Amino acid sequence: MIVLGIETTCDETAAAIVERDHSGHGRILSDIVLSQTDEHAAFGGVVPEIAARAHVEVLDLLISQAMAEAQCDFASLDGIAAAAGPGLIGGVIVGLTTAKAIALVHCTPLIAVNHLEAHALTARLTDGVDFPYCLFLASGGHTQLLAVRGVGDYVLLGNTMDDAIGEAFDKTAKLLGLGYPGGPEVERLALRGNAHRFALPRPMQYRREPDFSLSGLKTALRLEAERIAPLSEQDIADLCASFQQAIVDTIHDRLRAGLRVFAERHGVPNALVAAGGVAANQSIRQILKRLADDARIPLIVPPPDLCTDNGAMIAWAGAERLAAGLTDTLDVAPRARWPLEEVTHAASRD
Ligand code: KG4
Ligand code: ZN
Repeated sequence: MIVLGIETTCDETAAAIVERDHSGHGRILSDIVLSQTDEHAAFGGVVPEIAARAHVEVLDLLISQAMAEAQCDFASLDGIAAAAGPGLIGGVIVGLTTAKAIALVHCTPLIAVNHLEAHALTARLTDGVDFPYCLFLASGGHTQLLAVRGVGDYVLLGNTMDDAIGEAFDKTAKLLGLGYPGGPEVERLALRGNAHRFALPRPMQYRREPDFSLSGLKTALRLEAERIAPLSEQDIADLCASFQQAIVDTIHDRLRAGLRVFAERHGVPNALVAAGGVAANQSIRQILKRLADDARIPLIVPPPDLCTDNGAMIAWAGAERLAAGLTDTLDVAPRARWPLEEVTHAASRD
């Protein structure tokens, strides 16, 4: 089964072709991603209108490139998948409408993929992991802990009450006058800093339910920065290191609670899987490894270019849904907001 995947929910335009064989193994035939980071950098964050226009400009070219690289024509596709949300609605409309047009012209099944579901299923493409597994999804827009029990069967165990972890990194970077995206900058400077200099809070520590809250940490960091301003280079490095350590400790505590809740409700998971841009952080990876070792399960972190937004994950989720007989009609609507639990309901209804 060969599926084209289109991703346009945020600031990456992406198209990919993925093959899924009868035994459920996946192979990426092409995977092209064009990041808009440069176009948004001057604004310190993604500007929705700029993003939507940039998707329109390049998407058809990227699809042609992905098709050519995979040596594939539209007639040989078994499905056309596009991320139908959640995300910036202008961009989502561009990707989904393009997918509908191709599906209509070539009479090919359409699969409207939930972007979070695509992150959730990527580890099956890269590592063939079996259900159920525990997914830690940490990106600029999401911080969630999920029980992934099957295609279209996701149970939310924990969520953030306010900021996502990537967002907290980005806001910290902005506050300290560093570049965008902030995560890699904060990580780089943290290497030179003293993580014990500032006593920052570890929000939600020891709570039973594995939820996150990061706005208090953000405020504490701002107050410390204001207290010692003007900031020297060493001050900035120490603030980065102290902030990153608070995040690492928080992840350790919250995921320990999450793995306990998982085991009680769903049995022992086959793996701890990390997805989203935040998983690129080395200190965070180390703590995830420790958590997995303590739980005696493997840690699976897909390679960085499949952890961040890409087309292959959309194509793969499309192939997994297609194999389960889950397709969509041409009137399916793009969605800015689309919690993963609602995908579960849609699947069980079909
Ligand atoms: O998954 P992603 O590429 O895009 C979405 O948000 O969907 O994640 C981007 C987020 C940004 O907030 C970025 O600052 C964060 O991931 N990030 C990091 C690192 N690299 C990227 N956060 C911490 N440390 C990093 N090395
Ligand atoms: Zn994403």
